[in-house]
Amino acid sequence: MNRDSRLLVACLLVFVCALVASVNGQVAPRTEDKPLMAEDVFKNVQVLKGIPADEFMGTMSVFSAALGESCETCHDGKDGWASYALDTVPRKRTARSWPSGRTTSPG
Ligand code: HEC
Repeated sequence: MNRDSRLLVACLLVFVCALVASVNGQVAPRTEDKPLMAEDVFKNVQVLKGIPADEFMGTMSVFSAALGESCETCHDGKDGWASYALDTVPRKRTARSWPSGRTTSPG
């Protein structure tokens, strides 16, 4: 075997390994990588339920970016994360109606 064909074999090996790895990834049981939902992680989620927690935080970033203001426009952060669950800031109550277009929260 010359140098070129050894290189070719090495490339093929890498390719086959990558293929096997990706196929394994696809058949892995889906229950284990089920993401944590927003309502599993946070205490006071009423509207943005049923989406993964990281997507929920993404939505919060969009809120802040859209307003060009900080998280504390809608959240009272004085006691850390615990106070993010409180509904003391009026802007938070207003913002609840944004994602769904509803003006009042259900229930
Ligand atoms: C425009 C207002 C607004 C802004 C700005 C905002 N949020 Fe929120 N946030 C909300 C609303 C409304 C809820 C409740 C959502 C619901 O009930 O489904 C919420 C809920 C949360 C919760 C869940 C609290 C709990 O325990 O129930 C966290 C955590 C959170 N926001 C973090 C953030 C972070 C971090 C930022 C800044 C990147 C941010 N928020 C910016 C309106 C806002």
